[in-house]
Amino acid sequence: MANLEVAIGSLTLKNPVMLASGTSGSGEELHGLLQLDRVGAVVTKTVTLEPREGHPPPRTVETASGMVNAIGLANMGADAFIAEKLPPLVATGATVIASVAGFAEEEWGELAAKMDAAEGVSAVELNLSCPNTGEEKLIAQDPAQITAAVSKARAATSKPVIAKLTPNVTDIAGPAVAAADAGADAVTVANTLQALVVDWRRKKSRLGAPQGGFSGPAVKPHILYLVNRAAAGVNIPVIASGGIMTVEDVCEYLCVGASAVQIGTATFVDPSAAMKILDKLEPLLVSLGAEKLADYVGSYA
Ligand SMILES: Cc1cc2nc3c(=O)[nH]c(=O)nc-3n(C[C@H](O)[C@H](O)[C@H](O)COP(=O)(O)O)c2cc1C
Repeated sequence: MANLEVAIGSLTLKNPVMLASGTSGSGEELHGLLQLDRVGAVVTKTVTLEPREGHPPPRTVETASGMVNAIGLANMGADAFIAEKLPPLVATGATVIASVAGFAEEEWGELAAKMDAAEGVSAVELNLSCPNTGEEKLIAQDPAQITAAVSKARAATSKPVIAKLTPNVTDIAGPAVAAADAGADAVTVANTLQALVVDWRRKKSRLGAPQGGFSGPAVKPHILYLVNRAAAGVNIPVIASGGIMTVEDVCEYLCVGASAVQIGTATFVDPSAAMKILDKLEPLLVSLGAEKLADYVGSYA
Protein backbone atom coordinates (compact mmCIF):
# COMPACT_ATOMS: atom_id res chain seq x y z
CA MET A 1 0.00 0.00 0.00
CA ALA A 2 1.47 3.37 -0.97
CA ASN A 3 0.66 6.29 1.33
CA LEU A 4 -1.11 8.89 -0.81
CA GLU A 5 -1.42 11.60 1.86
CA VAL A 6 -0.33 15.11 0.98
CA ALA A 7 0.12 18.11 3.29
CA ILE A 8 -1.07 21.57 2.27
CA GLY A 9 0.11 23.70 5.18
CA SER A 10 -1.65 22.38 8.30
CA LEU A 11 -4.13 20.35 6.22
CA THR A 12 -3.44 16.72 5.34
CA LEU A 13 -5.36 15.46 2.33
CA LYS A 14 -5.98 11.71 2.12
CA ASN A 15 -4.86 11.67 -1.50
CA PRO A 16 -3.68 14.19 -4.13
CA VAL A 17 -6.69 14.05 -6.49
CA MET A 18 -8.97 17.09 -6.11
CA LEU A 19 -11.91 18.41 -8.12
CA ALA A 20 -11.04 21.77 -9.76
CA SER A 21 -13.00 24.94 -9.01
CA GLY A 22 -15.94 25.70 -11.28
CA THR A 23 -16.08 22.26 -12.84
CA SER A 24 -18.16 20.46 -10.22
CA GLY A 25 -20.12 23.31 -8.61
CA SER A 26 -20.54 22.43 -4.94
CA GLY A 27 -20.71 18.74 -5.79
CA GLU A 28 -24.51 18.59 -5.84
CA GLU A 29 -24.70 17.29 -9.41
CA LEU A 30 -22.17 14.54 -8.81
CA HIS A 31 -24.11 12.57 -6.19
CA GLY A 32 -24.33 8.93 -7.22
CA LEU A 33 -21.65 9.42 -9.87
CA LEU A 34 -18.72 10.13 -7.59
CA GLN A 35 -18.03 9.64 -3.86
CA LEU A 36 -17.15 13.15 -2.80
CA ASP A 37 -15.56 11.91 0.42
CA ARG A 38 -13.06 9.78 -1.50
CA VAL A 39 -11.33 12.51 -3.50
CA GLY A 40 -8.55 14.47 -1.80
CA ALA A 41 -10.65 17.65 -1.79
CA VAL A 42 -13.52 19.36 -3.57
CA VAL A 43 -12.56 22.90 -4.61
CA THR A 44 -15.87 24.70 -4.87
CA LYS A 45 -16.94 27.16 -7.58
CA THR A 46 -15.38 30.59 -7.02
CA VAL A 47 -17.53 32.95 -4.98
CA THR A 48 -17.27 36.72 -4.66
CA LEU A 49 -18.54 39.05 -1.92
CA GLU A 50 -21.60 40.04 -3.95
CA PRO A 51 -23.69 37.73 -6.17
CA ARG A 52 -22.83 37.96 -9.88
CA GLU A 53 -24.91 37.22 -12.98
CA GLY A 54 -21.88 36.35 -15.08
CA HIS A 55 -21.72 36.41 -18.87
CA PRO A 56 -24.71 35.70 -21.15
CA PRO A 57 -24.84 32.33 -22.96
CA PRO A 58 -23.29 30.57 -24.74
CA ARG A 59 -20.80 30.05 -21.93
CA THR A 60 -18.87 27.08 -23.26
CA VAL A 61 -17.66 26.03 -26.70
CA GLU A 62 -15.96 22.75 -27.55
CA THR A 63 -12.69 22.98 -29.50
CA ALA A 64 -10.11 20.50 -30.76
CA SER A 65 -8.92 18.64 -27.64
CA GLY A 66 -10.42 21.12 -25.23
CA MET A 67 -13.06 23.68 -24.41
CA VAL A 68 -13.29 27.44 -24.07
CA ASN A 69 -15.48 28.91 -21.33
CA ALA A 70 -16.67 32.38 -20.43
CA ILE A 71 -18.69 32.07 -17.24
CA GLY A 72 -17.81 35.51 -15.93
CA LEU A 73 -17.65 34.32 -12.29
CA ALA A 74 -21.41 33.82 -12.06
CA ASN A 75 -22.10 32.94 -8.42
CA MET A 76 -24.57 33.42 -5.56
CA GLY A 77 -22.16 35.36 -3.35
CA ALA A 78 -20.08 34.15 -0.40
CA ASP A 79 -22.78 34.43 2.28
CA ALA A 80 -25.40 32.47 0.33
CA PHE A 81 -22.78 29.86 -0.55
CA ILE A 82 -21.90 29.40 3.12
CA ALA A 83 -25.55 29.24 4.19
CA GLU A 84 -26.97 27.09 1.39
CA LYS A 85 -24.32 25.18 -0.59
CA LEU A 86 -21.69 24.44 2.02
CA PRO A 87 -23.69 22.43 4.64
CA PRO A 88 -24.90 19.67 2.25
CA LEU A 89 -21.42 19.38 0.77
CA VAL A 90 -19.82 19.11 4.22
CA ALA A 91 -22.45 16.50 5.14
CA THR A 92 -21.11 14.21 2.40
CA GLY A 93 -17.83 13.98 4.34
CA ALA A 94 -15.91 15.77 1.56
CA THR A 95 -12.83 17.84 2.36
CA VAL A 96 -13.87 21.28 1.15
CA ILE A 97 -11.55 23.94 -0.22
CA ALA A 98 -13.48 27.17 -0.83
CA SER A 99 -12.47 29.24 -3.86
CA VAL A 100 -12.87 33.01 -3.58
CA ALA A 101 -12.15 36.05 -5.75
CA GLY A 102 -11.94 39.72 -4.77
CA PHE A 103 -11.94 42.79 -6.95
CA ALA A 104 -10.21 45.11 -4.46
CA GLU A 105 -7.42 44.44 -1.98
CA GLU A 106 -9.63 44.46 1.13
CA GLU A 107 -12.06 41.98 -0.41
CA TRP A 108 -9.48 39.17 -0.22
CA GLY A 109 -9.27 39.66 3.55
CA GLU A 110 -13.06 39.85 3.93
CA LEU A 111 -13.61 36.69 1.91
CA ALA A 112 -10.86 34.77 3.74
CA ALA A 113 -12.37 35.85 7.09
CA LYS A 114 -15.79 34.53 6.02
CA MET A 115 -14.26 31.18 5.03
CA ASP A 116 -12.22 31.11 8.24
CA ALA A 117 -15.47 31.28 10.20
CA ALA A 118 -17.32 28.83 7.93
CA GLU A 119 -17.57 25.39 9.51
CA GLY A 120 -16.40 22.62 7.22
CA VAL A 121 -14.12 24.73 5.03
CA SER A 122 -10.65 23.18 5.30
CA ALA A 123 -8.68 25.66 3.17
CA VAL A 124 -9.17 28.69 0.95
CA GLU A 125 -8.10 28.89 -2.71
CA LEU A 126 -7.64 32.41 -4.05
CA ASN A 127 -8.70 32.62 -7.69
CA LEU A 128 -6.27 35.37 -8.71
CA SER A 129 -7.32 35.21 -12.38
CA CYS A 130 -9.58 38.20 -12.15
CA PRO A 131 -8.81 41.88 -12.63
CA ASN A 132 -8.72 44.48 -9.87
CA THR A 133 -11.65 46.89 -10.30
CA GLY A 134 -11.00 49.27 -13.21
CA GLU A 135 -7.95 47.40 -14.48
CA GLU A 136 -7.53 45.06 -17.43
CA LYS A 137 -4.53 43.12 -16.15
CA LEU A 138 -5.29 40.05 -14.04
CA ILE A 139 -4.15 40.13 -10.42
CA ALA A 140 -2.16 36.94 -11.06
CA GLN A 141 -0.22 38.78 -13.81
CA ASP A 142 1.23 41.28 -11.35
CA PRO A 143 3.48 40.07 -8.50
CA ALA A 144 2.74 43.23 -6.46
CA GLN A 145 -1.01 42.59 -6.62
CA ILE A 146 -0.47 38.89 -5.82
CA THR A 147 1.48 39.92 -2.74
CA ALA A 148 -1.32 42.26 -1.65
CA ALA A 149 -4.13 39.75 -2.17
CA VAL A 150 -2.33 36.80 -0.54
CA SER A 151 -1.15 38.93 2.42
CA LYS A 152 -4.70 40.16 3.13
CA ALA A 153 -6.09 36.63 2.98
CA ARG A 154 -3.20 35.23 5.03
CA ALA A 155 -3.83 37.77 7.80
CA ALA A 156 -7.55 36.95 7.89
CA THR A 157 -7.44 33.15 8.30
CA SER A 158 -5.49 30.47 10.09
CA LYS A 159 -6.69 27.94 7.50
CA PRO A 160 -4.32 27.04 4.66
CA VAL A 161 -4.28 29.55 1.79
CA ILE A 162 -3.72 28.38 -1.79
CA ALA A 163 -2.93 30.91 -4.52
CA LYS A 164 -4.28 29.89 -7.94
CA LEU A 165 -2.12 31.43 -10.65
CA THR A 166 -2.74 32.24 -14.30
CA PRO A 167 -0.76 30.62 -17.11
CA ASN A 168 -1.02 33.89 -19.05
CA VAL A 169 2.37 35.25 -17.98
CA THR A 170 5.88 35.36 -19.44
CA ASP A 171 7.43 33.46 -16.54
CA ILE A 172 5.39 31.66 -13.85
CA ALA A 173 8.32 31.73 -11.38
CA GLY A 174 7.71 35.41 -10.47
CA PRO A 175 4.04 34.99 -9.51
CA ALA A 176 4.75 31.69 -7.71
CA VAL A 177 7.53 33.23 -5.61
CA ALA A 178 5.38 36.31 -4.85
CA ALA A 179 2.57 34.06 -3.57
CA ALA A 180 4.94 31.92 -1.47
CA ASP A 181 6.69 34.95 0.02
CA ALA A 182 3.32 36.50 0.95
CA GLY A 183 2.45 33.41 2.99
CA ALA A 184 0.59 31.07 0.63
CA ASP A 185 0.71 27.42 1.73
CA ALA A 186 0.53 26.18 -1.88
CA VAL A 187 0.11 27.44 -5.44
CA THR A 188 -2.25 26.00 -8.03
CA VAL A 189 -0.79 26.08 -11.55
CA ALA A 190 -2.84 27.08 -13.38
CA ASN A 191 -6.17 28.56 -14.40
CA THR A 192 -7.29 28.62 -18.06
CA LEU A 193 -5.37 30.06 -21.04
CA GLN A 194 -6.79 33.20 -22.63
CA ALA A 195 -8.53 32.25 -25.86
CA LEU A 196 -10.88 33.34 -28.65
CA VAL A 197 -13.49 31.23 -30.41
CA VAL A 198 -14.64 33.01 -33.56
CA ASP A 199 -17.72 32.81 -35.76
CA TRP A 200 -16.04 34.21 -38.88
CA ARG A 201 -19.34 34.58 -40.84
CA ARG A 202 -20.94 36.70 -38.14
CA LYS A 203 -17.52 38.17 -37.32
CA LYS A 204 -18.29 37.68 -33.64
CA SER A 205 -17.25 35.63 -30.66
CA ARG A 206 -18.92 32.21 -30.43
CA LEU A 207 -19.28 32.89 -26.70
CA GLY A 208 -21.47 35.39 -24.92
CA ALA A 209 -18.29 37.27 -24.02
CA PRO A 210 -15.53 38.58 -26.33
CA GLN A 211 -12.98 36.10 -24.96
CA GLY A 212 -12.75 33.01 -22.82
CA GLY A 213 -10.49 30.54 -21.06
CA PHE A 214 -9.10 27.42 -22.73
CA SER A 215 -8.86 24.11 -20.83
CA GLY A 216 -8.69 20.38 -21.51
CA PRO A 217 -6.14 17.90 -22.92
CA ALA A 218 -4.60 20.40 -25.36
CA VAL A 219 -3.22 22.60 -22.56
CA LYS A 220 -1.36 19.82 -20.72
CA PRO A 221 2.13 20.14 -22.26
CA HIS A 222 2.17 23.87 -21.56
CA ILE A 223 0.92 23.52 -17.98
CA LEU A 224 3.42 20.68 -17.37
CA TYR A 225 6.15 23.14 -18.27
CA LEU A 226 4.73 25.77 -15.91
CA VAL A 227 4.31 23.29 -13.03
CA ASN A 228 7.89 22.12 -13.43
CA ARG A 229 9.16 25.70 -13.48
CA ALA A 230 7.05 26.78 -10.48
CA ALA A 231 8.10 23.71 -8.46
CA ALA A 232 11.75 24.59 -9.06
CA GLY A 233 11.17 28.11 -7.75
CA VAL A 234 9.22 27.60 -4.50
CA ASN A 235 9.40 25.42 -1.39
CA ILE A 236 5.63 25.05 -1.01
CA PRO A 237 3.50 22.40 -2.76
CA VAL A 238 2.48 23.02 -6.36
CA ILE A 239 -0.99 21.77 -7.27
CA ALA A 240 -1.34 21.03 -11.00
CA SER A 241 -4.43 21.96 -12.99
CA GLY A 242 -4.54 21.56 -16.75
CA GLY A 243 -5.78 18.87 -19.09
CA ILE A 244 -5.72 15.87 -16.75
CA MET A 245 -7.89 13.12 -18.25
CA THR A 246 -6.13 9.93 -17.12
CA VAL A 247 -4.00 8.53 -14.29
CA GLU A 248 -1.01 8.70 -16.63
CA ASP A 249 -1.55 12.48 -16.89
CA VAL A 250 -1.50 12.65 -13.08
CA CYS A 251 1.80 10.75 -13.01
CA GLU A 252 3.31 13.17 -15.53
CA TYR A 253 2.44 16.09 -13.26
CA LEU A 254 3.67 14.36 -10.08
CA CYS A 255 6.88 13.42 -11.83
CA VAL A 256 7.66 17.03 -12.84
CA GLY A 257 7.06 18.33 -9.33
CA ALA A 258 3.34 18.62 -8.56
CA SER A 259 2.36 17.46 -5.05
CA ALA A 260 -1.33 17.24 -5.95
CA VAL A 261 -3.61 17.63 -8.97
CA GLN A 262 -7.02 19.01 -9.84
CA ILE A 263 -9.44 17.40 -12.29
CA GLY A 264 -11.45 19.95 -14.31
CA THR A 265 -12.68 19.50 -17.88
CA ALA A 266 -12.44 15.70 -17.55
CA THR A 267 -15.44 15.80 -15.18
CA PHE A 268 -17.59 17.24 -18.01
CA VAL A 269 -16.60 14.31 -20.23
CA ASP A 270 -17.09 11.70 -17.48
CA PRO A 271 -18.49 12.82 -14.10
CA SER A 272 -16.72 9.94 -12.37
CA ALA A 273 -13.33 10.65 -14.00
CA ALA A 274 -11.65 11.67 -10.72
CA MET A 275 -12.71 8.42 -9.02
CA LYS A 276 -11.51 6.30 -11.92
CA ILE A 277 -8.16 8.10 -11.81
CA LEU A 278 -7.94 7.69 -8.05
CA ASP A 279 -8.67 3.95 -8.21
CA LYS A 280 -5.70 3.47 -10.53
CA LEU A 281 -3.22 5.81 -8.85
CA GLU A 282 -2.24 3.78 -5.79
CA PRO A 283 -1.43 0.50 -7.62
CA LEU A 284 0.40 2.47 -10.30
CA LEU A 285 2.62 4.21 -7.73
CA VAL A 286 3.33 0.86 -6.07
CA SER A 287 4.34 -0.59 -9.46
CA LEU A 288 6.78 2.33 -9.80
CA GLY A 289 8.38 1.39 -6.47
CA ALA A 290 6.98 4.34 -4.49
CA GLU A 291 6.00 3.62 -0.87
CA LYS A 292 4.56 7.07 -0.50
CA LEU A 293 3.49 9.81 -2.86
CA ALA A 294 6.45 12.01 -1.93
CA ASP A 295 8.90 9.32 -3.18
CA TYR A 296 7.66 9.94 -6.72
CA VAL A 297 6.95 13.69 -6.66
CA GLY A 298 9.62 15.65 -8.54
CA SER A 299 11.47 12.52 -9.68
CA TYR A 300 11.79 13.92 -13.24
CA ALA A 301 15.43 14.30 -14.23
C1 LIG B 1 -16.57 25.71 -17.16
C2 LIG B 1 -15.39 26.06 -16.33
C3 LIG B 1 -15.56 26.89 -15.21
C4 LIG B 1 -14.46 27.23 -14.41
N1 LIG B 1 -14.66 28.02 -13.32
C5 LIG B 1 -13.60 28.31 -12.50
C6 LIG B 1 -13.79 29.05 -11.31
O1 LIG B 1 -14.90 29.45 -10.94
N2 LIG B 1 -12.69 29.32 -10.55
C7 LIG B 1 -11.43 28.88 -10.88
O2 LIG B 1 -10.47 29.13 -10.14
N3 LIG B 1 -11.23 28.14 -12.01
C8 LIG B 1 -12.27 27.85 -12.80
N4 LIG B 1 -12.08 27.08 -13.92
C9 LIG B 1 -10.73 26.58 -14.23
C10 LIG B 1 -10.54 25.14 -13.75
O3 LIG B 1 -10.66 25.05 -12.34
C11 LIG B 1 -9.16 24.58 -14.18
O4 LIG B 1 -8.15 25.30 -13.50
C12 LIG B 1 -8.93 24.68 -15.68
O5 LIG B 1 -10.10 24.33 -16.39
C13 LIG B 1 -7.78 23.80 -16.16
O6 LIG B 1 -7.95 22.45 -15.85
P1 LIG B 1 -8.63 21.37 -16.88
O7 LIG B 1 -7.88 21.48 -18.17
O8 LIG B 1 -8.46 20.06 -16.18
O9 LIG B 1 -10.05 21.78 -17.02
C14 LIG B 1 -13.16 26.74 -14.73
C15 LIG B 1 -13.00 25.90 -15.86
C16 LIG B 1 -14.09 25.55 -16.64
C17 LIG B 1 -13.86 24.65 -17.82
